[in-house]
Amino acid sequence: MNVAKMAAARHALALVEDGMKLGLGTGSTSALFVRLLADYVNSRELEIVAVATSQRTQQLAEQCRIAISELDEIGLLDLTIDGADEIDGHLNLIKGGGGALLRERIVAHASTRMVAIADDSKLVKCLGKYDLPVEIVRFGAATTLDRIGEYLADSGYGQVEGVVRMNGDRPFLSDEGNLITDWPLLCIDQPAQTHCGLKGLTGVVETGLFTHICVSAILGHDDDTTTVLAAPGTSKDGDA
Ligand code: A5P
Repeated sequence: MNVAKMAAARHALALVEDGMKLGLGTGSTSALFVRLLADYVNSRELEIVAVATSQRTQQLAEQCRIAISELDEIGLLDLTIDGADEIDGHLNLIKGGGGALLRERIVAHASTRMVAIADDSKLVKCLGKYDLPVEIVRFGAATTLDRIGEYLADSGYGQVEGVVRMNGDRPFLSDEGNLITDWPLLCIDQPAQTHCGLKGLTGVVETGLFTHICVSAILGHDDDTTTVLAAPGTSKDGDA
């Protein structure tokens, strides 16, 4: 068991209240949260309903007997708890290591609050050591890869080689049936600008750059403690 991830997931339970509509993230830290949430809700007899950010998370939540609904059925969510691949000091995130970035962003945008949970190794000074996931449609994928490369070169990232993510000997497909491409950008100085530029390219569906979305991040440490990074106006518990 990863103590730091578990500490972050456990801390996030304190944000859950009776009657809440929750977004459930994807990845190993989110999976820990889902399992803990099931026990937490049962032991306190809380009524919650949740929307999953991936088929994987939906299956896990159903196994854990968490009430799952469709986003379009319940509309605005109170809180989404999700993992991250990198987090900077301004609460910008790289997400998509699990390939769920599109649904993750839709769910986060439908939430009053999105809180990231992660082990402290995810905290970085500059986003980009983790390859940036960019979801693209399958049609004309090689052409879209070229366009992305040209955009990145024009934006000062140099000649960057993106790769199509694989699942064994086949391309990995997202829950929406798209390809995920991964881009080693090393340091993304202007994440919002880079996200908007990439999203403007035909064939690009989504990027893993989450800016101005996450209101706080709960970072777990190996000694089972946590630290909360909070946006101004957010309490130290990650509570808005
Ligand atoms: C899923 O697409 C990602 O955004 C995950 O949230 C991210 O990869 C974090 O995963 P771990 O919790 O497994 O590190």
